[in-house]
Amino acid sequence: MRLFIAINFSPEIKAMLLQSIAGLQAQSSGGNFTREENLHLTLAFIGETGRLQPIRAAMEAAAGPPFELVLKGSGRFGQLYWVGVEESPALLAQAESLREQLRRQGVSFDAKPFKPHITVARQVRSERPLSVDAPRCSMRAERLSLMSSERVQGRLMYREVYACPLERK
Ligand code: 2AM
Repeated sequence: MRLFIAINFSPEIKAMLLQSIAGLQAQSSGGNFTREENLHLTLAFIGETGRLQPIRAAMEAAAGPPFELVLKGSGRFGQLYWVGVEESPALLAQAESLREQLRRQGVSFDAKPFKPHITVARQVRSERPLSVDAPRCSMRAERLSLMSSERVQGRLMYREVYACPLERK
């Protein structure tokens, strides 16, 4: 399974992000726009593995208190467009403790520095760089989700295979 650990969103955040996506779509001449059910924030990308137990253990050990997740800013990496997430101390601490626990469990993951972003579109075609409206919105993050990613008939499908609540210990 191709796995990553993410925060999934409330319906309110998804609705705001869908508006930004519609705005981007309207300005572009095409692209691969993220579907509502696939909107998420990745904390750690693990990749192909069948070893779920050490990942679950890492998530349980790392789960900190619930925190406020705030959308902030937007941008692009080439043809990939994103909406940003505020780098609050609570979010950075949660991502760092998750990565630390994955290391302790011997689970390898993409160790590129954590840049919290929500991919809203890939392979966007346009004559010029486009702008994405950054919605003003926040939610309380209350669980870590282990997600699998697969292509089904060419469509990218994410599925939650395990979830761990965030709670004050
Ligand atoms: P991206 O949207 O910026 O590509 C599933 O692929 C999730 O894991 C996406 O949120 C993706 O971020 C993220 N991710 C992080 N590192 C990745 C990597 N090395 N390969 C694929 N996805 C990665």
